[in-house]
Amino acid sequence: MSQTAAYDVLIIGSGAAGLGVALELPQSMRIAVLTKNALEESNTYYAQGGIAAVLDETDTVDAHVADTLIAGAGLCDEVAVRFIVEHGRASIERLIGFGVGFSQEDGPNGDQIPHLTREGGHSHRRIVHAADATGKAVETTLVERVKERANVEILEHHNAVDLIREILPSGRRGRCIGAYALDTKAGTVHAYGAKATVLASGGACKVYLYTSNPDGATGDGVSMAWRAGCRVANMEFTQFHPTCLYHQDAKSFLITEAVRGEGGRLLLPDGTRFMDQFHKQAELAPRDVVARAIDHEMKRLGVDCLYLDISHKPAPFILEHFPTVHARCLDFGIDMTKEPLPIVPAAHYSCGGVMTDLNGLTDVDGLYAAGEVAFTGLHGANRMASNSLLECLVLSNAAAQDIVTKIATTPVPPAIRPWDASWVREADEEVVISHNWEELRRFMWDYVGIVRTSKRLERAKHRIDLLLSEITDYYSNFQITSDMLELRNLAVVAELIIKSAMMRTESRGLHYTLDYPEPDISRPPRATILIPPLR
Ligand code: FAD
Ligand code: SIN
Repeated sequence: MSQTAAYDVLIIGSGAAGLGVALELPQSMRIAVLTKNALEESNTYYAQGGIAAVLDETDTVDAHVADTLIAGAGLCDEVAVRFIVEHGRASIERLIGFGVGFSQEDGPNGDQIPHLTREGGHSHRRIVHAADATGKAVETTLVERVKERANVEILEHHNAVDLIREILPSGRRGRCIGAYALDTKAGTVHAYGAKATVLASGGACKVYLYTSNPDGATGDGVSMAWRAGCRVANMEFTQFHPTCLYHQDAKSFLITEAVRGEGGRLLLPDGTRFMDQFHKQAELAPRDVVARAIDHEMKRLGVDCLYLDISHKPAPFILEHFPTVHARCLDFGIDMTKEPLPIVPAAHYSCGGVMTDLNGLTDVDGLYAAGEVAFTGLHGANRMASNSLLECLVLSNAAAQDIVTKIATTPVPPAIRPWDASWVREADEEVVISHNWEELRRFMWDYVGIVRTSKRLERAKHRIDLLLSEITDYYSNFQITSDMLELRNLAVVAELIIKSAMMRTESRGLHYTLDYPEPDISRPPRATILIPPLR
């Protein structure tokens, strides 16, 4: 069974990028926000440290640009970096206008100004934050504002299956005219037509066994866009956050980088500091350097975790800056005001994604991508802390402006072919899903993780080829479920990551391989661009 609904704009995803687009569009437009879980559930909700923006008088756009370029290890697109950094202040002002309550401090004239914290790679204090739960403050505020908009229809528990492209008289595929989505409560698939479709579906770190991301980060947007004919870039650059809580029940809970920004020290099990042997910025070196150093020391010493210690700071300071982290660690019996926290690195952010221009427009007419799903060229080979939410805010605004300029001349989409599930039967072996899910995430962690080799990548490629054929066969024959959709998307993303990693015969930023341990200086650095078989 399938019904078709029609909108001006269909937004897939309800994090900072998706809700950002919805709120920047005029209230005269009919908009749907389609999201696969509850409205708030997103990576955005869990963001801790904050949002990077040039707000301090002693800071400059040039400095923020320069820091981002250094972290990106030669692969950032400087035009994109400058565009995004220049729009930082306006983005923060818009959030404050929406009602986001950032942490404040006394300004020089006795007035209240945003408190700015510091994170790795930043040469200035430039991270605006809401204590250590910035994402929650942003997401809950955007959710409140979007619920006030009568023109926005919110479709929770709707899992987008695939994008729909118009079929031209020539038989070729034309513009994007919407998406099919599974109503996960009813178990039915519907078509959602729209003049413009925005992918704001977040990242893909669930492709790794250990990740700071919530369960929904399964790379659906990259996978859907790839099937729809969009190029993707730089998929080999998965960022591993250096400090997630090491505890069997903590699900890699993130310990914000701001802990190091405010003086936290990384320690070996015997209590010695080690980061100054790896980088002059020590604990505040770019993330790839810190994560690799931790991985190196853990392997050298044969230990399961290292430690992050801020207990030398006064307890009231820790409680004021890190109430969320403090409370969560106490749940596991660890008091960060008195003792070091056991930490390990975990997959945290997908730097690659669907290629877009600075209006968020992809290769396919009518299809935009914004936020973690997209590749704008901002992050290069390594994202600098707190530049992600900044990119979500700037690009969601830019995409909304572009949609506004084009919508009046965009024709209404033609009738969409209903979803046909007449040939599929009910899944008979759920174990295929759970087994393949576990296997995929484990071999990605073991073979395509922080330190790679050509041999490990070949092993991973061999396994993903087998898994992809099994999953494709399963998808074609059985009724779809959310688990099946996510596994199918994860498998596509895993293949894209492995292929991209195999193509990069050098070490650069987040991609480190023992077979090519240095950057290739024989040619200019370039992005890894994959072109889909069907365009
Ligand atoms: P998300 O916020 O992840 O939203 C994606 C949305 O798409 C979700 O609503 C999801 O349910 C929906 N979705 C996905 N697939 C489908 C589908 N098939 N159908 C329908 N809906 C779908 N960045 C910073 O800049 N500063 C920080 O301090 C920071 N801290 C972080 C801490 C943690 C623990 C994590 C995990 C990330 C952090 N990041 C931080 C990164 C940042 O939070 C994310 O990159 C950013 O929030 C991504 O926003 P987004 O809107 O692109 O995606
Ligand atoms: C953190 O708080 O450490 C996460 C910041 C980020 O991912 O940008």
